[in-house]
Amino acid sequence: MTPGQSTRFTDKVAVVTGGSRGIGAAVATRLAAEGAVVAIGYRGNQEAAEQLLATLPAGRAIAVRADVADPDQTAALIEQAVTEFGRLDVLASCAGIEHFGTLESLTPGEFDRVFAVNTRGQLFAVQHAAAHMREGGRIVLTSSVSASRAVFGHTLYAASKAAVESMVLNLSAELGQRGITINAIAPGGTATDMATEHGASYQHPQLRDVLSMAQWLSVHGALGRLAEPEEIAAGYAFLASDDAAYMTGRTLQIDGGFF
Ligand SMILES: NC(=O)c1ccc[n+]([C@@H]2O[C@H](COP(=O)([O-])OP(=O)(O)OC[C@H]3O[C@@H](n4cnc5c(N)ncnc54)[C@H](OP(=O)(O)O)[C@@H]3O)[C@@H](O)[C@H]2O)c1
Repeated sequence: MTPGQSTRFTDKVAVVTGGSRGIGAAVATRLAAEGAVVAIGYRGNQEAAEQLLATLPAGRAIAVRADVADPDQTAALIEQAVTEFGRLDVLASCAGIEHFGTLESLTPGEFDRVFAVNTRGQLFAVQHAAAHMREGGRIVLTSSVSASRAVFGHTLYAASKAAVESMVLNLSAELGQRGITINAIAPGGTATDMATEHGASYQHPQLRDVLSMAQWLSVHGALGRLAEPEEIAAGYAFLASDDAAYMTGRTLQIDGGFF
């Protein structure tokens, strides 16, 4: 069945943070293709948000500027979705930022900036979304394959994502009492702006001049290539659907066999 033929999300309302580009945009597109009404949040790239909106069914999608580092803005995004579309069934929390820096270069300010988006931002998105959800609600957060791999200079980002995996595990106990599931996707390297900007930093500094990115990928991944955002979005759609009704508290790695 192609996504366009599926109706898993007919009459469902979804909020997708980080929905203007990359993985979040692919998630919004996939959920809409399967029948959802979608509210996407973005940090500042209005042009990208409007371009995506133009591809979604008219009257069935909105874009709202909302920096997830500010929980009040996330709350406003969710309120607007509920006001406009009447309910909330799915939160796909995709907004995130990369960071590389070795121990001696780290500052408390950088720690706060990365965790404010990747960790705190996702926690309070859950808090505000769950307040509007009924039984059957689905929450999907975004970790990374980096949470469980050692990469040179990647401590802050990896730790900010590892915390997300612990959050879904623990929040599942609370949300399960209301019939709401919460899981995370841990993507591997995915062909987005983030990978273009930071992908080369995944190689150990001593290897950067020796291996091309393509060679490095073929050494470290069973499939030997980056994911397309749509291949990652398929996992979000699964966890957001009734097909995953008995799955909660878990992190699903979609990484092309990264090792
Ligand atoms: N790409 C990968 O290889 C990879 C691998 C593992 C995990 N991930 C995770 O997957 C998620 C999506 O990554 P991506 O590659 O699609 O990133 P991307 O191409 O850089 O896109 C980032 C998206 O998040 C939004 N965003 C960033 N900071 C935000 C903030 N403070 N508040 C609200 N929105 C914000 C951006 O909005 P604007 O357009 O307005 O800037 C954009 O929509 C992230 O959580 C990332 O950590 C990515």
